[in-house]
Amino acid sequence: MNRHDIPTPALVLDLDAFADNVTTMAGFVRSHGKAFRPHGKTHKCPEVARALVRAGAIGCCAARLSEAEVFAKAGIPGLLITTAVIGQAKISRAVALADSAPDTIFVVDDRQNVRDINDAAGKRSEPIKLAVDLFFGRTGIAPGQPAVELAQLIDSLPNVTFAGLQSYDGAAAHTTPFDARSTRTRTTMGKAVETKAMLERSGIACPLVTGGSTGTYRFDAENPGMTELQPGSFVFMDMEYGTIGGPNGSDYRDFKNALTVVTTVVSRSPGIAIVDGGYKAFSTDRPFTPGAVGIEGVVYNWAGDEHGRLDVTNASRELRVGDRIEFIPPHVDPTVNLYDSIYALRGDRVEAVWPIAARGKSQ
Ligand SMILES: Cc1ncc(COP(=O)(O)O)c(C=O)c1O
Repeated sequence: MNRHDIPTPALVLDLDAFADNVTTMAGFVRSHGKAFRPHGKTHKCPEVARALVRAGAIGCCAARLSEAEVFAKAGIPGLLITTAVIGQAKISRAVALADSAPDTIFVVDDRQNVRDINDAAGKRSEPIKLAVDLFFGRTGIAPGQPAVELAQLIDSLPNVTFAGLQSYDGAAAHTTPFDARSTRTRTTMGKAVETKAMLERSGIACPLVTGGSTGTYRFDAENPGMTELQPGSFVFMDMEYGTIGGPNGSDYRDFKNALTVVTTVVSRSPGIAIVDGGYKAFSTDRPFTPGAVGIEGVVYNWAGDEHGRLDVTNASRELRVGDRIEFIPPHVDPTVNLYDSIYALRGDRVEAVWPIAARGKSQ
C-alpha cells in the first residue's frame, strides 16, 4: 500500500521522524542519568510503547486504568497509572492488574482511597505499589507535610507499599517563553524534591520522583532530585507544542512533527476547498486549527463534523477535487483517540498499520 491509497481521513506516521524523536528523547534522558517512562496517553498504541522500550524506556505511563489494561495485555512492562483509581469496581480491576503485572504503580492523593486499595488488595506476597501524586493545580495532595503524612499511612498498611512521588505540573509544559517555563518547572519540581528529603528524614525511602513533559524535559533532566521523566507528546508532536518557544526567542524545534492527518479535497468552489476532515478528524480543544503541510497560504476553518473549509485564495499551488492535504493536529492526544489505527510510512510506502488499541479507553 502507498500513501496515496490510504482511505481518508487517517492518521499517518513518518517512521523516520518518529525514530528520530524517540532516539533524541531517550538519548537525552539517558545522558542525564534518569529513568525514562514515557506517557502512553499520547499514542495509546502498544507498537509505539514497544519502540520506546526498545530505545531504553523502563515502561509506560497510562492515564487511566483501562488504558493500562491494554498495555499490560500487550506485554508492556513497568506501567504507571498517573491518575487515581477511584471506586470499588475499578479498585477490584486495579488489584487484578497488579496480580498479573506486579510492577504496576498506582497513584493516590486521598487517605480513604489508600485504605480502600489496601483492603481490596488482601494479604499478598507483593504489596501493591502506590506513589503519592503531588498537587500543582489539578489532582494531587499538597507537597510537604500533607504528602509525607499520606506516605506514612501507606507505609503503615500491610497490603500496599510506598513507591515514591509523582510530580507532574501540567501547566508548566506549555508555559512560554522558554525562561518562564524553566523557572516554573524548577520551582514546582523543587517542591517534590523537598518532599522527598522530608520523607527520607522521617525514615521513609523515596526511590521514585517521576514527572516532566515534552515542554519541560530539558530542565527536569537537570534536576538532581528527579529520578524519572514521563514525557508523551514528543513521539508525534502537534501545533500546540510548535508554539511554546525555544531558547533565546527561537522556535521550539527539539522534535519533529511525525504524525499528520491526511485528508482529501472533496469539493471545490472559487477560493474554497472542502476537505473530509472536521470535528471527527481533529481535536477541537485549542484556539487554533490544523496546520497544512507542504502547501503555503492555506487557512483551515472548521466546517462541521466531517468537513474542513480551506481558504485557498493565496494557496501556493492549485487544489483539485481528489487531491490530498496533510495537517499537523492542533493537539495530538485527543486527535489520536479519534482513530482506530496509525498508518506507519517509510517515505510513501505503508510499512505497517498499528492498532490504537487503547483508543477510547478513558475509564
Ligand atoms: C501525568 C502526565 N505525565 C506526563 C504527561 C506528558 O506530557 P506531554 O504530552 O506534554 O509530554 C502528561 C500529559 O498530559 C500527563 O498528564
